[in-house]
Amino acid sequence: MVDIRYIGHSAFEIKLKDNSIMIDPLVSINQAYDYKKIENLTDIFLTHGHGDHLGEALEIAKDKNATITAIFELAKYCESQGCKTRDVGMGGWINYDWGRVVFLPAFHSSSLPDGGYAGHAASILIDVEGVRIYHAGDTCLNSEMKLVKELYRPNIALLPIGGTYTMDVEHAAIAAQWIGAQTVIPMHYGTFPSIQADIQKFAQLIQMQNTNFCILNPNEIKQ
Ligand code: NI
Ligand code: MN
Repeated sequence: MVDIRYIGHSAFEIKLKDNSIMIDPLVSINQAYDYKKIENLTDIFLTHGHGDHLGEALEIAKDKNATITAIFELAKYCESQGCKTRDVGMGGWINYDWGRVVFLPAFHSSSLPDGGYAGHAASILIDVEGVRIYHAGDTCLNSEMKLVKELYRPNIALLPIGGTYTMDVEHAAIAAQWIGAQTVIPMHYGTFPSIQADIQKFAQLIQMQNTNFCILNPNEIKQ
């Protein structure tokens, strides 16, 4: 049983059988959300170093004694801030007690809070309890997504749709097709004026492809 809770923006909490994990934990976006209530948060994953994805990761990791997994340069930064980390690159499975994860390409920039180099931006595929969840991070539409389908067959895709910094709804609908997940959950839209998205239009485009579409409002859970 995997519960995916949308915190807001690109932040998710995923509850697994015995533990929980988070991705891009910008928890400050959601006043009603309290990370302190998470039981056994073991791992936090970061797609890249921008503030809207790093979020409150450092504070949460230290508070919950969780490990941050990120691309090498970003992980080293988190380590320098006093966090437990796993530094990784794109390409190979990384094993955890509860499942496995692979970091894959995203076409986007990445920097540390001080503007320093944070390595490449990534997307993340999580393979746990027979479910494969693909968090696309911040990215434009790219043909690597076809390889994601061919190699990993994700069940659930979390896709940015807000445009300006990432795919817009039209490109995200194409991405959904290329990735081939049965269920798509939109993210990275509506948070600020430059990433407003026409969610109804996205729903229409997705429905033409026999893909399930699941709009999660902040705090809502997809089981
Ligand atoms: Ni970004
Ligand atoms: Mn972003």
